[in-house]
Amino acid sequence: MDWANQPFPFRCYSDTATIDLMHGDDQTGPSFFDLYTNNITPQPVNDSTISQFFYYSMALSAWKKIPGGDAWPLRVNPSSGNLHPTESYLVGCLQAHGSETGGSENASQIGCGVYHYNPLRHQLEQRRSLDLAAWQKIARQIPADGFLVGLSSIFWRETWKYGERGFRYANHDVGHALAALTIAAACFGWESQLIDSLTTEQTSIMLGCHEQQGVEAEHADCILAIFPRTESSSKARLQLHFDAEFLDSLRGTKCLGTVNQLSRSHHDWPIVEETALACRKRESNRHISAAEKDGENPCRSGRASEMATSSQKIYFPTLSKTAYQIIRQRRSAVEMDGATTLEDRLFFGILQRLRPDINPLPFNTLPGKANIALFIFVHRVETLPPGLYVLVREDSHLEQLKSLVPKDFIWRRPMRCPDNLAFYLLAEGNMEEQAQIISCHQEIASRGVFSLGMVARFDSLIREKGAYFYPRLFWEAGMIGQQLYLEAEAAGLRGTGIGCYFDDVMHQLLGIRDRSWQSLYHFTVGGPEIDTRLQTLAAYHHLT
Ligand SMILES: Cc1cc2nc3c(=O)[nH]c(=O)nc-3n(C[C@H](O)[C@H](O)[C@H](O)COP(=O)(O)O)c2cc1C
Repeated sequence: MDWANQPFPFRCYSDTATIDLMHGDDQTGPSFFDLYTNNITPQPVNDSTISQFFYYSMALSAWKKIPGGDAWPLRVNPSSGNLHPTESYLVGCLQAHGSETGGSENASQIGCGVYHYNPLRHQLEQRRSLDLAAWQKIARQIPADGFLVGLSSIFWRETWKYGERGFRYANHDVGHALAALTIAAACFGWESQLIDSLTTEQTSIMLGCHEQQGVEAEHADCILAIFPRTESSSKARLQLHFDAEFLDSLRGTKCLGTVNQLSRSHHDWPIVEETALACRKRESNRHISAAEKDGENPCRSGRASEMATSSQKIYFPTLSKTAYQIIRQRRSAVEMDGATTLEDRLFFGILQRLRPDINPLPFNTLPGKANIALFIFVHRVETLPPGLYVLVREDSHLEQLKSLVPKDFIWRRPMRCPDNLAFYLLAEGNMEEQAQIISCHQEIASRGVFSLGMVARFDSLIREKGAYFYPRLFWEAGMIGQQLYLEAEAAGLRGTGIGCYFDDVMHQLLGIRDRSWQSLYHFTVGGPEIDTRLQTLAAYHHLT
């Protein structure tokens, strides 16, 4: 690692128009648990709500400072090593608040285009100008008053420190960002859907990534449609098509702004570029399977009433902070206290909200069913014997997992476990040492309330879907991680993503001898030990 070349953590585009966004107020707004009830009144989309949408998803949330020494910024979304490879973009027409007229031409437009979000300044930087007609062609394909958000990754930010592992970490971070954006959207009664009909090339041209080359280039990841919820909006997956003429005009128009350089010199990691190339989405997935169309996907099936019924069986604590407070206070625990315990019903409530069929937020942003099961090392949950447990997040996985793992696993449902939760004790005993070893010997995995490994269906899935699905599995894992971070805060605990783990040791424990299932990400939740030597500064103190 060459410290002198540590990449600057912010991508900025200068010499272009900018829009200063407004800052939020963490004390008002819906409570955190209101987000799951799906009855937040949809708010109009305008410069004020868009400002807050970014403020509660991709903005800075604090600075940490060594007294008399260095200070470093932290963000609403977490990132392996705080390196932040994920860039975000707004695509749409921004209207002044108070002037919304349902997208008509008379609305007071602040601007239409593609804007890069700069978290350091909480500012939009214009990369493209779109004429209203071009935008309306897109807008007609998504629900009323919707807009698009694009994500891209700068692998160099991660490879600088982690080398080849940078590809994996960058994609974990995309997953965290997807969940952060989805949850921020939910605060305004907006829904979010990943648009699966776009290829990587189309996404790249839209965001202007196709112009970039070299080690510091941004690689386009995906585009989300975000829109105020309507009665019917949950029921179908959106398709978005950019026609050839439009794409040609984008390709032929140079993007606005001058990009900043992140490091003085670089080290190539060709395998990361090769993997990214191999994982590009080349097909548009226009053909949605009949099952999905008919609503077999529980997240998108329109089984709202059924979901409402099962959500009534979810345990929600009565007291909760505002969603904004939880979102912006989220931090990673650096150490766990080895003592804090968690009430079992709070624990079961967290697990319920990790099953997409019981609780679609934020998982319904991705198309299709859950692909990841959680193998949980329970250390300190009241009434539950310590041991190895599994949370099956998709019913069809149960039999596959039963035939995969060692025959002496006991598959016993814990006492007091809610009926709608496929949660089983597999092996009883103190798992602290095992969890710590698997997590690259990090103590945070053993001294918390629980830690877990996210294990995904792998070989057959990649064969069925294609290589583009490989990063998608990390996105799904990252979304689970983001949800766990927020759940931990809401329960008065703290979480930490564990990107450093030994998958072979985890596989050995679970009896996985092939590639049918693969451990992709780990996580820990517990009572944090706070480092009181560090000072905390306000997120945007540097702007005042
Ligand atoms: C994908 C991912 C992997 C991570 N892996 C580790 C890890 O192995 N060990 C650790 O202590 N922290 C890990 N973290 C936590 C980051 O170090 C942390 O997010 C970053 O320092 C920013 O701090 P914040 O989360 O408090 O904003 C990980 C975070 C993410 C998102």
